[in-house]
Amino acid sequence: MARNKIALVGAGNIGGTLALLAGLKDLGDVVLFDIVDGVPQGKALDIAEASPVEGFDSVLTGASSYEAIAGADVVIVTAGIPRKPGMSRDDLIGTNAKVMKAVGEGIKANCPDAFVICITNPLDVMVGLLQKYSGLPKNKVVGMAGVLDSARFRYFLAEEFGVSVEDVTAFVLGGHGDTMVPLIRYSTVAGIPVPDLIKMGWSSQEKIDQIIQRTRDGGAEIVGLLKTGSAFYAPASSAIQMAESYLKDKKRVLPCAAYVDGQYGLNGLYVGVPTVLGADGVEKIVEIELNADEKAMFEHSVNAVKTLNEVAAGLPD
Ligand code: APR
Repeated sequence: MARNKIALVGAGNIGGTLALLAGLKDLGDVVLFDIVDGVPQGKALDIAEASPVEGFDSVLTGASSYEAIAGADVVIVTAGIPRKPGMSRDDLIGTNAKVMKAVGEGIKANCPDAFVICITNPLDVMVGLLQKYSGLPKNKVVGMAGVLDSARFRYFLAEEFGVSVEDVTAFVLGGHGDTMVPLIRYSTVAGIPVPDLIKMGWSSQEKIDQIIQRTRDGGAEIVGLLKTGSAFYAPASSAIQMAESYLKDKKRVLPCAAYVDGQYGLNGLYVGVPTVLGADGVEKIVEIELNADEKAMFEHSVNAVKTLNEVAAGLPD
């Protein structure tokens, strides 16, 4: 059986990390693509030279022409600009919207059967543009945000409870970052919901509220520390988990920016919801009952996404 082909559009900080992880996890051959000639080729060669040490046989190549992504099974898009201190994800919209047009057209022409994962911010808007310009089925184009937001939440909860990160699950809904909706009654330590853990004296509501806020500001915290760019290790790990679930038909239940078509009373937009990811892409959107507070937070988040979609719709084509 031929190896899978993974195309990484954007060979910057996240793109390079994605290539290394794809190799380490033996997910398939990797093509790194970037408009800056030399960078994708250099990173591909550097990682290929690690392969004898790490023991993987993936073939890594770099390219600056879209033909190189032909026939890719998975495309992960990080092309665009990241934010600098003082910028919000939304400040990137004009520049990155133009990039999504070029990338979407490149995917349409070269690998229309791919599963596409968008990471470029502002995520919920960019994934919609990528779907529009690529013309791929909506279930085959998703955005990576929820896995990262919930990973940050899980990490902080594990630290608070003094337990393994592996035993902490977290459930988030909504747009990426500031308006993310953490559902603490569905976030657990080995199945014990966070509200029960508060009752058991493991933490306080106040501490959990602080953790939720830190999670919402998780991206900004990293931008503030790095000063020259945004987070890249955890975003890359998160997207690789999604790619793996598709390629291996694992049917992982993962929160993604997915196209909603009636679920949660919403139509015609991408927003963060729990999904089942398998060989057909988004195979199911998991629709849960929300209580009044959660509904209000989710509506706030959806409205923020809708506002940005309107801004994007008003941009010159
Ligand atoms: N086509 C292909 N690549 C492009 C294009 C384009 N039209 N425009 C820019 N790029 C490339 C840049 O040359 C750069 O190598 O995208 C890469 C982006 O890499 P970084 O600047 O290192 O950014 P990174 O940290 O990887 O983040 C990328 O993901 O999390 C989001 O907000 C973040 O939107 C940003 C994206």
